[in-house]
Amino acid sequence: MGSFTLQYTLYGNVGAIRKAILNDSICLEVQTLCIVFEFFILCSVSLYGADSRSFSIDYKNNCFQKDGKPFQYISGSIHYSRIPREYWKDRLLKMYMTGLNAIQVYVPWNFHETVQGVFNFAGDRDLEYFLNLANQTGLLVILRPGPYICAEWEMGGLPAWLLQKPNIILRSPASEWLAVLLTKMRPWLYQNGGNIISVQVENEYGSYFACDYNYMRHLHTVFRLFLGEDVILFTTDGNTDKEMICGTLEGLYATIDFGTDTNITAAFIRQRRFEPKGPLVNSEFYTGWLDHWGDKHASVETVKVSKMLGEMLFMGASVNMYMFEGGTNFGYWNGADHDSRFRSVVTSYDYNAPLSEAGDPTDKLLAIRDVIKNFRDIPVGPMPPATPKFAYGFVTLQKVCKTLLICKISWPYNPSYSVPIFFHRLYYGFMLYRTTLPRDVPEPTPLISPLNGIHDCAYVSVNGVYQGLMERDTALVMNVTGQQGDQLDILVENMGRVNFGSYINDKKGLLGNLILGNDVLTDWSIYPLDIDTAVANGWLQADQSGSAMEAGDGPMIYSGTLKSTGLAWDTFVKLNGWNKGQVWVNEVNLGRYWTQRGPQQTLYVPGPFLSATQPNNITVLELERAPSHRRILFMDRPQLNNTGQKT
Ligand SMILES: *[C@@H]1O[C@H](CO)[C@@H](O)[C@H](O)[C@H]1NC(C)=O
Ligand SMILES: *[C@@H]1O[C@H](CO)[C@@H](O)[C@H](O)[C@H]1NC(C)=O
Ligand SMILES: *[C@@H]1O[C@H](CO)[C@@H](O)[C@H](O)[C@H]1NC(C)=O
Ligand SMILES: *[C@@H]1O[C@H](CO)[C@@H](O)[C@H](O)[C@H]1NC(C)=O
Ligand SMILES: *[C@@H]1O[C@H](CO)[C@@H](O)[C@H](O)[C@H]1NC(C)=O
Repeated sequence: MGSFTLQYTLYGNVGAIRKAILNDSICLEVQTLCIVFEFFILCSVSLYGADSRSFSIDYKNNCFQKDGKPFQYISGSIHYSRIPREYWKDRLLKMYMTGLNAIQVYVPWNFHETVQGVFNFAGDRDLEYFLNLANQTGLLVILRPGPYICAEWEMGGLPAWLLQKPNIILRSPASEWLAVLLTKMRPWLYQNGGNIISVQVENEYGSYFACDYNYMRHLHTVFRLFLGEDVILFTTDGNTDKEMICGTLEGLYATIDFGTDTNITAAFIRQRRFEPKGPLVNSEFYTGWLDHWGDKHASVETVKVSKMLGEMLFMGASVNMYMFEGGTNFGYWNGADHDSRFRSVVTSYDYNAPLSEAGDPTDKLLAIRDVIKNFRDIPVGPMPPATPKFAYGFVTLQKVCKTLLICKISWPYNPSYSVPIFFHRLYYGFMLYRTTLPRDVPEPTPLISPLNGIHDCAYVSVNGVYQGLMERDTALVMNVTGQQGDQLDILVENMGRVNFGSYINDKKGLLGNLILGNDVLTDWSIYPLDIDTAVANGWLQADQSGSAMEAGDGPMIYSGTLKSTGLAWDTFVKLNGWNKGQVWVNEVNLGRYWTQRGPQQTLYVPGPFLSATQPNNITVLELERAPSHRRILFMDRPQLNNTGQKT
């Protein structure tokens, strides 16, 4: 990389340097460098005149070709499912003003077909409106329709109802969904007058253990059937031979992904082994990284990102920055990893990206724009400013009802089972499992999950008195006391299904018997808790008459109002002293907080979720213990970097 780095520093005059590199005498010196230099024979000669709308791969000149001319994309990832619809245009405009000419977009299947056979493309799910905004802004689109997407998204985008099918093989053909989605997308292909220049098939399939070429061939056939022969179909895989071997397929252009700790030359040489000709593409160049609960807050240095971006663009590579705008895992949409243990992804998907979670331009964005300036003319005019933020201050909450089940949040659905069973019909959030103690346990007696079957956290009460919690992989035993016949309530929290690797078959709930002392517990009643519907119907507003209830331990609902101020500006809510739970503003579920574990300390509240003129209804489900002050704070800036805060 030595001489390359030297040349990179001069890239102010890119054209001249590229020509210099093509000088054979340099090329003859070292063979690997020859391969490197071959990369530079890119996109410099226009061989064809302008044609009708076309987008293709030019294998002769190792680049993409748009309307007959060489084309290099500089793209950024943005997920419409993580941003309120009202802000889509703002974020896209900021990306355009940075100098990007394309965006890369995942389509989460479970966001659009949450219930089998019911397809939702309205409001925040209006993908075509999003594509239209991007087109109006002047951005091309690299579409990633999965059907599996990973994305640190609940179950990698696969709908949880798939788990109810017996012997379901995940990441198997999803033809009905693809028929609906791809039929919608076809008019949006560049060739057909839209802005989609390429479509990814599957996602990092080479990282999955199955390595099933028949599956990839089948997807290839389905994509071609619905999208036609002209669009570029591609795959993206991690930077190892195994991943490239299992993830790539003849007929799908093989691209690679890597971040700032990778040797660019080595990575692109690997791509070249699978695609000897055609454009170099880094489909996911990591600008930052995600956080799990309990992690140190992740970051990637701006100088590393901008330097490496410059190096790749200088080589003529097309690059997508993952993420450019991360956004938020609202509701229950966060994913999880399972390596040595289950680790749930935090609510913020800020990703340390060039645009912050709240869509604000950062220093990283400005540095990236300075790099891009060396390669293409960037739009004239100012970068749109950050959206205004407001510190609305404290709101004091009241406990809403004595126990969760009195809160009218359970479904009219109460079947009994001899053994506990996994979440079904209600796939996200919380389920209450209820039975009775089979005998007196006057002394603390271990309640055990022998098969590690609590997915993912269980909050245990006896006769309404909170006893403590159990947690998947880490806390499989706790003590319980009580008398025969006492009511044992176990509230089970789904913390997001695994989105990556061989554990994506991640059923939630109680997956195995629990043992109390020597007795296997049986005769369960199962109550799905549809808190979101109760919130939306206004059933969880505290009685404002002042009959304040004691704040107790264990899962409880609290509510209050944020008075109208005439403003509906962005804000960040901090739950200092609270432990863990979920927050709603009006009807919107903002996601999980876990102040005690961190690193995330505030939840993003986009202005469009607030009313400027009416009092805003705040609802909090606290799972362990509310602080005695029962206050939450609306601040004007986020805090994402504080692990293990105790206060
Ligand atoms: C996309 O934008 C271009 C240029 O503004 C316009 O000509 C074209 O009709 C748009 N395509 C769609 C599908 O809206
Ligand atoms: C990067 O990889 C290339 C090709 O394998 C190798 O020649 C070079 O020494 C590597 N650079 C560094 C800094 O390791
Ligand atoms: C997080 O905070 C620690 C301690 O204040 C600091 O050293 C670290 O640089 C911060 N990390 C990020 C990503 O801001
Ligand atoms: C349960 O109680 C016993 C007896 O008091 C104690 O020795 C044990 O440490 C407790 N176990 C847990 C998991 O708290
Ligand atoms: C708050 O809840 C009340 C009672 O359900 C409802 O009338 C009001 O519209 C809600 N406020 C907002 C801003 O949605």
